[in-house]
Amino acid sequence: MEIKQAEFIISAVHPSQYPKDKRIEIAFVGRSNVGKSSLINALTNRKKLVKVSGTPGKTRLINFFLINNEFYFVDLPGYGYAKISKTEKKSWGKVVEDYLRGREELKRVILLLDCRHKPTNDDITMYKWLKYYNYHTIIVATKVDKVSKSQLFKNLKIIKDTLKPETGDEILTFSSLNKQGKEEFLKVLESVINFYS
Ligand code: GTP
Ligand code: MG
Repeated sequence: MEIKQAEFIISAVHPSQYPKDKRIEIAFVGRSNVGKSSLINALTNRKKLVKVSGTPGKTRLINFFLINNEFYFVDLPGYGYAKISKTEKKSWGKVVEDYLRGREELKRVILLLDCRHKPTNDDITMYKWLKYYNYHTIIVATKVDKVSKSQLFKNLKIIKDTLKPETGDEILTFSSLNKQGKEEFLKVLESVINFYS
């Protein structure tokens, strides 16, 4: 699949602001700073479609991007950023939960994990939660430019052993820096889109 068009539509906090046109949605979740916004920029060949945070925890809203006039990428605020207040954490939880709880248009959730680290408790909770709501999930190990091939292989095993992905939930690798994994990701995306259209 080729992404020819990517257009920012809306930053939403409340469900009443979500798009209402029933196009399917692919959402990106993961720890703050894991590379969600960078991944969307890399996939869409746009340097600044999504703001990449110098300071982690900056994305507080749900950002909808219309892709090829056909489906949406949904950039969710990251979790696990220590330096935010309890009130902010609560509002993060509400914003994300409102969206993930039974969003019919949402057909795949992309769970990003930093390939250098063991999944955190937040990552594990998020994965279990996605499974509880029956979302098909694609796990993407990000920032693979930062490790050697052999290290990556080891770390992928740790990720598998920790998350114990359900059959059908694949694990992909990605680097927004050198675009490693981009073709594979787009292939998987294409099959998802074709399935639902
Ligand atoms: P929040 O919006 O805070 O939830 O973060 P995010 O998950 O959207 O992360 P973002 O894309 O803003 O990236 C965070 C930092 O990691 C930035 O400094 C990026 O340049 C860097 N980064 C993201 N992806 C990669 C990657 O594949 N390789 C390398 N080396 N750096 C990356
Ligand atoms: Mg972001």
